[in-house]
Amino acid sequence: MKADSGNKRGLWGSRLGFILAASGSAVGLGNVWKFPYVTGQNGGGAFVLIYLICIAVVGLPIMLAEFTIGRRTGLNPVGAFRKLAPGTPWVAIGFMGVLAGFLILSFYAVVGGWTLAYAAKALTSNISFFSSPDVAGEFFGNFISDTPMVLFYHTVFMGLTIAIVLRGIHGGIEKACNILMPTLVIMLLLLMIRSLTLEGAMAGVDFYLSPDFSKINGSVILLAMGQAFFSLSLGMGCLITYASYLPPEENLTSATVYVVLFDTFIALLMGMVIFPAVFAVGMQPTEGPSLVFTVLPTVFAKMPMGGLAAIVFFILLAIAALTSAISLLEAVVAFFIDQFGWDRKKAVWAMGASIYLFGIPSGLSFGLWSDFTLFGKTFFDLADNIASNYLLPLGGMLTAVFVGWWWGTDQAHKEIERHETTFHWGKAWGFLIKYVSPIAVLFVFLGRFF
Ligand code: TRP
Repeated sequence: MKADSGNKRGLWGSRLGFILAASGSAVGLGNVWKFPYVTGQNGGGAFVLIYLICIAVVGLPIMLAEFTIGRRTGLNPVGAFRKLAPGTPWVAIGFMGVLAGFLILSFYAVVGGWTLAYAAKALTSNISFFSSPDVAGEFFGNFISDTPMVLFYHTVFMGLTIAIVLRGIHGGIEKACNILMPTLVIMLLLLMIRSLTLEGAMAGVDFYLSPDFSKINGSVILLAMGQAFFSLSLGMGCLITYASYLPPEENLTSATVYVVLFDTFIALLMGMVIFPAVFAVGMQPTEGPSLVFTVLPTVFAKMPMGGLAAIVFFILLAIAALTSAISLLEAVVAFFIDQFGWDRKKAVWAMGASIYLFGIPSGLSFGLWSDFTLFGKTFFDLADNIASNYLLPLGGMLTAVFVGWWWGTDQAHKEIERHETTFHWGKAWGFLIKYVSPIAVLFVFLGRFF
């Protein structure tokens, strides 16, 4: 399949290209930074088990639904719902999605900037001298309140995202993911071996792999489900957009399975990198959001070749964040290209710049503007909260209801089976998308209020 020929929007150059790009979207700060700390705070093995169940019954069916909508319509989230349900309010899912993408990228790029900063600090060997997590924590606190530094790396991160998306589907996004994703896997495997061979590592393996169900309650289940959602890039049409560049002969079900497995594999691998190391140096897994940025540098400091490990780790974290940021910007950009007829260059620059500017208050939320709060939250927390806790669950649930009840699973089946691939688990998927997924996500959504 030769890409871009006779198609203004562009197509993926190969089947593997699509799977790598969608995996690149899914694998990001959600897996590498958030999954370990949420797991660490919520009981280890038992949380992991529930997370995996959520991935299977909610994540997998909704991902297939988004892929199906995307390939059927060949459009951005707004255009897709408008085409399948003209003149109905369902298009609101699309608008909500574009808004969510805009919001998520605005603060995601800030954290992406932190990862770049740490990669740069690791290269100049600034961060493998910490004698304790406290020292590392202080260093992190000083860094995120240093306005010029935070702004500089935020700008670099957003600039890289814009540069890649400017080059378009085949030229930029696919090429980047083709190189970046396999590199990520190799780097993580090397780090895991390093972690597992540290003395005392087995206590971490134990914490991570043996479930302690006394830690499980309703709110932990809700957390696990929310994490599944965010990690798979669901609920805002990001994957609708990526699937819109698919040539029609793609097998959607196997692409779904590959992306879900890959995303889950990276998250689980990440746990195997972090927990053995944390326990080996006698620290706590309950550190919270600063886990990656404070505990790991301390761990690196106590490791032979720790300086090198720090470089490798933060570079790969920045890479993972970048391939996710690319997908967020692409969904927003596709909306302006399809719906307003803008050319890619104009759409990327206009949206990239707007999202960047909108993200600046988030970047300042830990320093200069930390006192500026709305509803008791900083700008950063507010953007994250509105997008991740409200727009995504609502978008995912409505997408499931739309496909299950309005557009209909028969239509979806037809699209999935276009080009003669038999949809073997079609009945099970129909049941999941009609009943299980929407009810489960509703549960997550309502859970925010209790
Ligand atoms: N899934 C990515 C991560 O784990 C983040 C992400 C990219 C995302 N695109 C998304 C999250 C769309 C929600 C919706 O870091």
